[in-house]
Amino acid sequence: MKANIGLIGLAVMGQNLVLNMNDHGFKVAVYNRTLRVVDEFLAGPAKNTQIVGTYSLEELVDSLESPRIVMLMVKAGDVVDQYIDKLVPLLAVGDIIVDGGNSLFTDTNRRTAALKEKNINYIGTGVSGGEEGARHGPSIMPGGNKAAWPTVKPIFQAISAQLNGDPCCEWVGDNGAGHYVKMVHNGIEYGDIQIICEAYQLLSEGLGLSADEMHSIFAEWNQGELRSYLIEITVNILAYKDEDGQPLVDKILDTAGQKGTGKWTGINALELGIPLTLIGESVFARCLSAQKSERVKATQVLPKRSKAFTGDKQVMINAIRDALYAAKIISYAQGFRLMREASKEYNFSINYGEIALMWRGGCIIRSQFLNDIKQAYNDNPELENLLLAGFFVDAMTRADEGWRIAVILAIELGIPTPAFSSALAYYDGYRTERLPANLLQAQRDYFGAHTYERTDKPRGEFFHTDWTGHGGKTASSTYSV
Ligand code: 6PG
Repeated sequence: MKANIGLIGLAVMGQNLVLNMNDHGFKVAVYNRTLRVVDEFLAGPAKNTQIVGTYSLEELVDSLESPRIVMLMVKAGDVVDQYIDKLVPLLAVGDIIVDGGNSLFTDTNRRTAALKEKNINYIGTGVSGGEEGARHGPSIMPGGNKAAWPTVKPIFQAISAQLNGDPCCEWVGDNGAGHYVKMVHNGIEYGDIQIICEAYQLLSEGLGLSADEMHSIFAEWNQGELRSYLIEITVNILAYKDEDGQPLVDKILDTAGQKGTGKWTGINALELGIPLTLIGESVFARCLSAQKSERVKATQVLPKRSKAFTGDKQVMINAIRDALYAAKIISYAQGFRLMREASKEYNFSINYGEIALMWRGGCIIRSQFLNDIKQAYNDNPELENLLLAGFFVDAMTRADEGWRIAVILAIELGIPTPAFSSALAYYDGYRTERLPANLLQAQRDYFGAHTYERTDKPRGEFFHTDWTGHGGKTASSTYSV
C-alpha cells in the first residue's frame, strides 16, 4: 500500500507531525537530508508504526499515492526553494507540495505562483503549538492554491487540535495567506508575552512580590477572562524551583531571543500603514533586552528612580490585571485590523471568524478570549475594528481606570511598560475625534508646500498657503504612502 503523504525534515516538529498523522491512521513516508536521522527515527519514536523510511527524494515520491502530497518541515528560506527545485521534476500534474515552516508570506506568494505555472499545487501552512502541539494537535493555518485543499483537508483536520468538535484548521485564503496569518499569530504571540512580562515586572519590582506570590496571582487570573495557554505556562514557570529550591525564573538571564516573525509583522504593518504599536514595541523590547552589557553600563551613569510603592497592594494588583486585559484587547484589535488590510492588499480573502476559531485551540496564543473575538465576527463579519464591537466596548470601559493606574505606577517608579503605555496611547488616539495633525499638516505645508485639506471644505480638495509672504504659490505634487 502506498503512503498517503510524504514528509521531508525530521527535526522535532517534523517527527511529531509524522507520529500524529500515524496515530490518525495515515501512512506517512519520511525523508531527511542526513539519512542517519531516518534510521534513528524508525528505530526510536517510530518503532512499531506503519511509517516508511526513504533514502532519496525519488524513493520518497515513488512511495506516495496519487495525487502525491509532499510536506516540507525544513528551515525557512533558501532550503525550501532548493527542495522545491529538486521535487518538481519528480512530481506529476496535480501533485501537491506543502511548506509547514515559518516561511515569509511573500516567498509563499512567489512559490504558489511559480508552481501553478508548472501545474503543481502549492500550500504554505502555519503550524502552531510547539512540539507538544505538533504531536497531539496543533493549530494549522493552510493557504495557497485552493485546488489542493480537498486532498490535504482530511489529513490536516484529523491531526489538528479539536475544540468542541471543531478542528483548529480551516482554509485561510489564497497565495501566502496561511503564512501571513501565522506571521500575525506570532506577532500577537510576541505581544501577549510582552504584556505578561510587563505585569510580572510591575508585580515583582513595583510591588515587591515573590515568585510564589505571583504564581498565585497569575493562577487566579487564569480562572477569569485572561485564561490562556501563555498565562498557564507563566503560572507553572513561577512555581518551578531550581536544584537549590529557589525559583529558576530568577536565575535566567534577561536577554530575549527572536527568530524574526514578530519583526516581519511589524515591517508589514509599516508597509501597509496600519498602527501595530503593541507588537512593534514588543519586538523593540526584545531588542533592548538583548543590549544587556550596554544597559548595565547605563545604570552607572543614569541611576534608576528610587521611589517605592506605598498604596494598597490588592488595588494595584487588580489594576495591573486590568492593564493586561485592556492591552491584550488592543493587541488583537491591531492584529486583526492589519489582517483586514492585508486581505484587501494581497487578495487573500481572509475569513477572520475562522481565524479566531483556529486560534482557540492548539496554538501558542490559544485562549478563552478568542471565543469573544469569534463571536464579534459572527455578529458582524465586516467589523472594521474589534474595539467597535459591543463586548469589547464594555470590556475596555471596565478596564480603563485600572489600566491608567497601572501605567501611572510604572511611570512613577520608572518601570518600563512600553506595551501597556503605547497601547493606551493608541486607544486614546483611536477615540479622539480631532488629533493634532492639523498643526502637522500646517508645518508640512509651511516648509514644503505639501498642501492640506480644510475642515470647512469637502474632502479631497487641497490648499496651499504662502505662510511667510515670500514663499511660492505652487504646491509640491502630493503623494501618499
Ligand atoms: C508556534 C510558535 C513557533 C515558534 C516561534 C518562536 O506558533 O508554535 O510561534 O512558531 O516557537 O516562532 O518565535 P521566536 O523565537 O521568534 O520567539
